[in-house]
Amino acid sequence: MELVDKLIQKGDLSDEEFASILDSSDPGIGEYLSKKAVAVREAHYGRDVYLRGLIEFTNYCKNNCKYCGIRGGNPSAERYRLSEEEILSCADQGYDLGFRTFVLQGGEDPYFTDERMISIIRGIKAGHPDCAITLSVGERSRESYERMFEAGADRYLLRHETADKAHYEKLHPSDMSFENRMKCLRELKDIGYQVGCGMMIGSPYQKTEHLIKDIRFLQEFRPEMVGIGPFIPHHDTEYAGHNLGSVELTLRMLSIIRLLLPDVLLPATTSLGTADAMGREKGLMAGANVIMPNLSPAGVRGKYLLYDNKICTGDEAAECIRCLENRVEKVGYQIVVSRGDHPGKRRS
Ligand code: SAM
Ligand code: FES
Repeated sequence: MELVDKLIQKGDLSDEEFASILDSSDPGIGEYLSKKAVAVREAHYGRDVYLRGLIEFTNYCKNNCKYCGIRGGNPSAERYRLSEEEILSCADQGYDLGFRTFVLQGGEDPYFTDERMISIIRGIKAGHPDCAITLSVGERSRESYERMFEAGADRYLLRHETADKAHYEKLHPSDMSFENRMKCLRELKDIGYQVGCGMMIGSPYQKTEHLIKDIRFLQEFRPEMVGIGPFIPHHDTEYAGHNLGSVELTLRMLSIIRLLLPDVLLPATTSLGTADAMGREKGLMAGANVIMPNLSPAGVRGKYLLYDNKICTGDEAAECIRCLENRVEKVGYQIVVSRGDHPGKRRS
């Protein structure tokens, strides 16, 4: 507890001190961290929860991340791509349900050239100029990021996955590089996107020292958003038999990140809700302030399977939002109709 107080007073701890918070078997530490993180979250954002409507528009992927169910090398993944019309109609439906941010997420699918992405971005912005667009389509060239930004994209999510190069190389094949991932993140920030990075908790070979490196990276990079969730095995990957990431450790990391970056946008992720039936509520009560419900058409949801047993694959968007409203209200929060920009980085 003293360490948590020290973290709040000084805004930082030594590596050893962070390790003792993360490794402690005392559940009281998690509870105390959550309480302090919630106070900081409420000072910045009150009890509001921002929604991001997730449109998973393609599960084709040219990469082969070793942990991911939609990696290109998985012959059992049933592939799909949404058409531009389908994507625009998801956004229209989302708008009517109160969404003011759309997240276009997909595998690294070469079909979605800059021209196609630009047309989709412009289409959504033309119909809904008051909305923000977040892209999450992996590593691309600086020029591509610039063109999509100029077309109207506001934010970009690219998890760094781990801030340790050797660990990154254990999770990815040799044609993917830690340096390029980091280069992409720096370029995105430089161009002017609100940037989200993040990592899985409990990914294969992850140790406490890696999480501390992640903390150091976040302190230095200062992203506008941090997406974290437990690692969940997928049956068609080489890590199928690996343990599920710890929910408790994910919650501690969420609270630490809230204390370190007080106004960061922090989602209670779908993977947290998959690892624990109350995971998203627990995430909110540990300092998270964003939820990303699925807006993809019900027919394709079951195909965007990054990991096993993913929740919300059978529901319509309207059902999801009603369910979430209830869940959020039960823990004392409220969903708001807002773009929910990072306060330090709003595009005029
Ligand atoms: N292709 C884009 C990219 O690489 O940023 C976006 C899609 S990617 C599938 C989204 C995120 O899902 C990854 O960054 C990764 O952290 C997470 N993910 C993949 N497999 C996972 C697993 N087995 N358990 C938990 N999260 C996983
Ligand atoms: Fe597609 Fe990792 S498997 S980006």
